[in-house]
Amino acid sequence: MNKTKRKAVIAGNWKMNNTPAAAKALIEEMKPLVKDADCEVVLCVPFIDIPAAVEAAKGSNIKIGAENVHFKASGAYTGEISAEMLVAAGVEYVIIGHSERRQYFGETDQTVNLRTLAALNAGLKTIVCVGETLEQRELGYTETLLKYQTKMALTNVTAEQLKNVIIAYEPVWAIGTGVTATDDQADEGNGFVRAAVAEAYGADVAETVTVQYGGSMNAKNAEGLTDKVNVDGGLIGGASLKAADFAVIVKAASR
Ligand code: PGA
Repeated sequence: MNKTKRKAVIAGNWKMNNTPAAAKALIEEMKPLVKDADCEVVLCVPFIDIPAAVEAAKGSNIKIGAENVHFKASGAYTGEISAEMLVAAGVEYVIIGHSERRQYFGETDQTVNLRTLAALNAGLKTIVCVGETLEQRELGYTETLLKYQTKMALTNVTAEQLKNVIIAYEPVWAIGTGVTATDDQADEGNGFVRAAVAEAYGADVAETVTVQYGGSMNAKNAEGLTDKVNVDGGLIGGASLKAADFAVIVKAASR
């Protein structure tokens, strides 16, 4: 396994937090703290914050992402946002299939796949989330489930398109709970995801795919987690709402 083939990506996931004014203020605070990062720095923000975030991040190394995208290009889908709209607004990344979408908003492996294809076709980079629940882990299904979710999400995604795909391994039991996977659990989960990519696209392609860990990653544990050979950065929820903590995580992934 050669980690130098992959660039780490640290992406914040603000979830349903921050008004446009708060978004602007937080990004202004973060800019000087992350400017020397040797990893990709992304902030995925609520739709309503996108214009303010894109404006605030202009000229900096911070890229702006969305937290979801619809799979149709346009039409009668009240309340939805298309990939083309995101691109037009200056968005470069989008999170797809976060466990909160799967848990509360009826997201399925199939809609995750459709959203991924729509986003890639529009030129967005995708952060596709996969992860097992505690029950699934305890029943011994972690590997099976991660491989299944990964392959389902990537159905009909070409090897060329895969260059714009990041996969985030986020054990559901570790999200927002303060319970982090151990460094080895994260490495193992990320390894299952990479193995699924290898089965679908070959080992050489799998070596180049960025696989993040997410789930209570913070300023204290980021170094140990990002040290692991299969962990190429992280998807950060709570700690991405605090500039100083987020900057420490960016620094940890930049080594
Ligand atoms: P957390 O969230 O860092 O607050 O656990 C991670 C995520 O949901 O992406």
